[in-house]
Amino acid sequence: MNFERTLIITGGAGFIGSHVVRLFVNKYPNYKIINVDKLTYAGNLANLKDIEDRPNYRFVRMDICDFDGILKLMQEEKVDGIIHLAAESHVDRSIKDPFTFAQTNVMGTLSLLQAAKICWDGNWEGKRFYHISTDEVYGALEMTHPEGVEPPFTTKASSGEHHLAYGEKFFTEDLKYQPHSPYSAAKASSDHFVRAFHDTYGLPTVVTNCSNNYGPYQFPEKLIPLFINNIRHRKPLPVYGKGENVRDWLYVEDHARAIDLIFHEGKVGETYNIGGFNEWKNIDIIKVLIRTTDRLLGREEGEDMNLITYVTDRAGHDLRYAIDSSKLQKELGWEPSLQFEEGIEKTVRWYLDNQAWLDNVTSGDYQKYYEQMYAGR
Ligand code: NAD
Ligand code: TYD
Repeated sequence: MNFERTLIITGGAGFIGSHVVRLFVNKYPNYKIINVDKLTYAGNLANLKDIEDRPNYRFVRMDICDFDGILKLMQEEKVDGIIHLAAESHVDRSIKDPFTFAQTNVMGTLSLLQAAKICWDGNWEGKRFYHISTDEVYGALEMTHPEGVEPPFTTKASSGEHHLAYGEKFFTEDLKYQPHSPYSAAKASSDHFVRAFHDTYGLPTVVTNCSNNYGPYQFPEKLIPLFINNIRHRKPLPVYGKGENVRDWLYVEDHARAIDLIFHEGKVGETYNIGGFNEWKNIDIIKVLIRTTDRLLGREEGEDMNLITYVTDRAGHDLRYAIDSSKLQKELGWEPSLQFEEGIEKTVRWYLDNQAWLDNVTSGDYQKYYEQMYAGR
């Protein structure tokens, strides 16, 4: 079959990557989508069960640090675009094991950049290297309005009821990088390498920095799926510090739509912030999660508030993230499609309806899926 384009999406078996792979495989039957994933603890092919047999989809189990393997794959498949999501992504793990984060996030990104440079060899026409990064590279913002004020932006992601900003400053694309955790330091370093390959060799790159994502298929070590699972099983909810830290939340499919738009229409060499202007204190989100989960389980709404358990704060815990995504909204016309309450309701419902997926992940059984699926092939 002749394809119009052949793309590698790295980290496609992870949380955000699986949504991006699904979107591209469904929306672009004329593109060949190659999902390159090492299948670490965070990679789960069950996330892609619905599209795994499509003719325009191929899965390759490979470490992005395997430069020779990546180069060979790119040459054999005549790859003309890379959407790079593979990374170690959990801050708490980075505090315990920073080396793995530097290896995958920095050296893995460098390996992909170098392979793309060699493979495309100056023929940049129609080529694109798209690096997915995080708002955490900007560091932490001050909380000048702890009670919250009307924010200067309006958007669909925040509802009328909760539409607050906890400070005057926002992360803008021109802000200096000030990462605090080993995770964000490694992501920051990878962003610098991507820009260096654009500025030095002319590689057609684009970088985006997105706020916290939530939605189906997120590994239940992150706040939202972990807490939904714990509420269901009536296990304690470990709130770091006082629960006052602020995060800016975006529904994962809205991130995937932004990635599609920017991959096709973003300007080479540019950086775009992605976020829904949707700031929440952790403790407020946790209360929404408890109320929603209780209601959907037929329990009395709020009866599980006693599960909230304040624990020692995360080391170097960033106080506030808040993304200014007006450049993306103005230049490319993107906006989030879901209000937060709708997104949370959909998300809680998904985890409750997909308890088998959660049980599989929490028991570790999902890691046998690849071996079973590929046995004898
Ligand atoms: P995730 O941890 O759910 O998935 C990461 C995927 O990468 C997994 O499938 C894993 O197997 C794969 N992987 C890890 N190391 C690899 C390696 N060496 N070679 C090949 N594959 C490897 O992560 P996520 O939450 O989906 O995040 C995806 C990307 O988006 C990351 O680059 C992250 O920094 C960025 N991001 C995440 C968020 C968020 O809220 N989750 C927000 C902004 C940006
Ligand atoms: P997390 O989902 O790990 O994302 P990130 O650290 O990348 O923002 O955490 C979101 C927020 O929730 C963060 O402020 C840390 C806090 N948190 C808890 O309070 N308890 C937990 O068990 C977890 C995992 C996170």
